[in-house]
This record gives sequence, C-alpha cells and structure tokens, in this order.
Amino acid sequence: MKSTPQTPNRLQNLCDEHIGKVSDKWESYIDIYDELFQEIYGSVESILEIGIQNGGSLEIWSSYFPVARKIFGIDINPKCKLLKFKDERIKVFVGDANTREMVNMISEGSTFFDIIIDDGSHVSSDIIRTFALYFPKLKSGGTYIIEDLHASYWESHQGALNYNFSSIEFLKKLVDVVNFSHWGTDMSPSEILQSFINLYNLDLEPDLLLSIGSVYFQDSICVITKSSPAENPLGVRRIFGKDASIDDSVISFNHSTSATPTQYTNSLFNLFVDDELILKFAQNTAELTTKIENIEDELRVIKSSASWRYTKKLRQIRYLMSKFSQKK
Ligand SMILES: C[S@@+](CC[C@H](N)C(=O)[O-])C[C@H]1O[C@@H](n2cnc3c(N)ncnc32)[C@H](O)[C@@H]1O
Repeated sequence: MKSTPQTPNRLQNLCDEHIGKVSDKWESYIDIYDELFQEIYGSVESILEIGIQNGGSLEIWSSYFPVARKIFGIDINPKCKLLKFKDERIKVFVGDANTREMVNMISEGSTFFDIIIDDGSHVSSDIIRTFALYFPKLKSGGTYIIEDLHASYWESHQGALNYNFSSIEFLKKLVDVVNFSHWGTDMSPSEILQSFINLYNLDLEPDLLLSIGSVYFQDSICVITKSSPAENPLGVRRIFGKDASIDDSVISFNHSTSATPTQYTNSLFNLFVDDELILKFAQNTAELTTKIENIEDELRVIKSSASWRYTKKLRQIRYLMSKFSQKK
C-alpha cells in the first residue's frame, strides 16, 4: 500500500458530518483509526467489518477509503438483509461469521483484505474463532482490529479477570508469539495456544501465527498487524555515536543479530503450568461443587421429612449404645 499525505482527524470529521445510517463506536477508536490509517487511506482496496448492525460504519468507511473496491460487512441479524446502500462497493453478507461457509462466501475464493474489524458478538469464543478464521484472509501488511474487549472481563461474554480462556488472554498469548524467536525453547507458537485450540476447536495453521507482526492494546481494543513470516522484525543491533566512555564493549555489537540463550534449564520456565490442567481442575471443582450442593439438598429434604423426625429416638439410642460399647 502506498502512503497518502497525512490528514489528521479526517475520520473524526467524516463521523461528525455523517447523517446517514447509524454507526456505534467509542470515541477513542476514531482517534486510533485516524492515526492508524492516515497514511494509507488513499490506497486501501478492501475492508471487512464483522458486525455491522445499522450499517453506518460501512457508509463511513466508503467515504473514508476513496479507492477501496470492496467494503464488506457481515451480520448475523437477518434484518440486515433489508439494508440498502447507494455505494455499490458496499456488500452485506447475512449469517454467522463463525462458519467456514461465510469465510468462503466473503472471500469469493481469492479476496484478501487490507483491514478486518471484528465488532461482532464480543463473546470470547466468537472473537477467538473469528480470528482463526479471518486472520488468514488478511493481506500481508494488513491490519486486524478487535473492538470492545472490555467484554472479555464479563461473565455474560464468556470472560472474567484472570479467566485463562477469555479473548483477552488469547490475545495476550499473541504477544508471546510476536517474540517467538527469543524463547530459547523447542516450543512452537501453536503449542502455547494448544489449550485454546482444543477448547474452541480452532483450525490454526502454525505458519499463520508466525505472520503476526505486532499486537497493540489500548482500552478495549486490540490491533494486530500481519507481516511476512520470513521478515525479522527486530533487525540487526545498531550502535550510534562515538563516545562510549562507560562501556565500550557495545561497539563490537554493531550490525550483529540477536542470539537467544537456550532456556532448557531455566527453572522459571519449568514452573510453567499447563492451561489444560487448570481447565480440567476448574471443571472437576465445578462438578464436585454441584454434587455437594445436590447431596446437601437431599439431606435437607430427608431431615425435614416425617420419618426422619419419628426415627430420631432410635438414632439417639444407637449413638448411646455405640458410646457404651466403646467404653467397654
Ligand atoms: C456492536 S454491533 C456492530 C456495530 C457496528 N459495527 C457499528 O460500528 O455501528 C454488533 C453486531 O454484531 C452482530 N453479530 C453478533 N454475533 C455475530 C456473529 N456470530 N456473526 C455476525 N454478526 C454477529 C450483531 O447482530 C450486531 O449487529
């Protein structure tokens, strides 16, 4: 994508002037988009938004990206079939975004997108599955955005602070994936995501993970960029300047590449706890808690029954007899 002259607040201005279909976004997102897209808006060819509701954001994107040929939206709400747009570049697909059929439909075999925005259900399993299905449809150099991640802390959206399988925990793992070349272990990126792959039945190609170039978080939003797997994002070490009066050993490192020490004997690494064990432990604990609650309920019923009251004397006699025999 070629760069365009910078126009700060261009999106903000378009949103302020927008009088068509309604769009619903937090104000900080507009600033983030203005900054992210200010140099590329003139060359973006294709954008996909998952979750479009009233369709307003698609109208705004159509004004914002002048040369885009495909401005696609997906929504599960059948009413979205009724949405009509003047701009023929806008196309709405109605159905669940989280199906292989939908991925095939929107990509028409060969479409790759410059920008993909997930503003769908905000439920953890959906966000994670959507990423696995649509990140492969992002162009190299493209940007994948997930909005409204505050929901990943809420039970209503399959989340909680410190819940190991929330969308935000998945995205935090992608930060480790970006730094994969420094792990010093024989683990692959997909291994650290294995528990997510199992739980959410993900079809994640290992090479795909290696094409994650950067992961950026701001309040409720995550921006992930894609770059070619062969690219070394760190580059070589550069030493600038001439005066190294404190430590001149650094000078010899100019233009050297990073050398990761192996971590096989790292005792801290060995403290690593398998996420799946945690999940099994949580499930077992939940099952046992339910069993205990059921037994307590049954006991309450028994204790409040007439036969339990009538046999009270018998139980007291049996207790006294056992005490008496113990003494002997
Ligand atoms: C927050 S609204 C989208 C707002 C819109 N992006 C905007 O900026 O105005 C979320 C939308 O996601 C849709 N949605 C929820 N689950 C979905 C799914 N599995 N697939 C596609 N769309 C979904 C809902 O029907 C709803 O219209």
